[in-house]
Amino acid sequence: MTHTSTPAAKHEAQARKRRAAEAALRHIEPGIVLGVGTGSTVTFLIEALARRPGLIRAAVSSSNASTEALRAAGISVVDLNDIDDLPLYIDGADEATRSHCLIKGGGGALTREKIIAAAAKRFVCIIDDSKLVETLGAFPLPIEVIPMARNLVARALEAQQGRAVWRTGFVSDNGNHILDVHGLSIQDPPALERRLGQITGVVTVGLFAARPADVLLVGTATGTDSL
Ligand code: A5P
Repeated sequence: MTHTSTPAAKHEAQARKRRAAEAALRHIEPGIVLGVGTGSTVTFLIEALARRPGLIRAAVSSSNASTEALRAAGISVVDLNDIDDLPLYIDGADEATRSHCLIKGGGGALTREKIIAAAAKRFVCIIDDSKLVETLGAFPLPIEVIPMARNLVARALEAQQGRAVWRTGFVSDNGNHILDVHGLSIQDPPALERRLGQITGVVTVGLFAARPADVLLVGTATGTDSL
């Protein structure tokens, strides 16, 4: 896997994200309400949607940042509670396996992302190929917690071999804190998602395994692979 340290490598990673985002347009039935995720790959999706006015009727947004970008692109944003049907959700991820399990939440929007993923009939995940892994966990696993429970949850995580680091200075759109759990090698993503979700004070675990992506669009040097 490539690491994006030099400016040229960063530029190439952006190009791969853009390819994946643009390939996702082919999954959109005209006129739908679209679930829209958060992050730099999704920014390319929003830019592509801005160039296709009227392609979607409206969006359900997973973060205040995406809501702002969607509105700036002339796309109306509706409340999930006001729609009966969400045919498609498109979002990025921090890591993904070939079985479509994901780590998400690098941008801190994991709770609303998980809600939209649960509501959507189909979840198309857009990534560049550096994010495709055999085993999840090299990327620290984000966990959103109720602020007063932060240390309680951190201690419980440490009892399970994870080193929980408070994302200081960050407050989620829901007013909560994020712990990033380092040092995990996640052999059974659904089991870990279930187990960590049971810790009192945890709002959302950034593992998307019980509800994985349906399709992974992976931007590469030459195009996009659909897995
Ligand atoms: C946001 O909270 C995340 O789940 C993003 O989907 C994830 O971090 C991917 O972000 P990038 O597209 O910026 O890499």
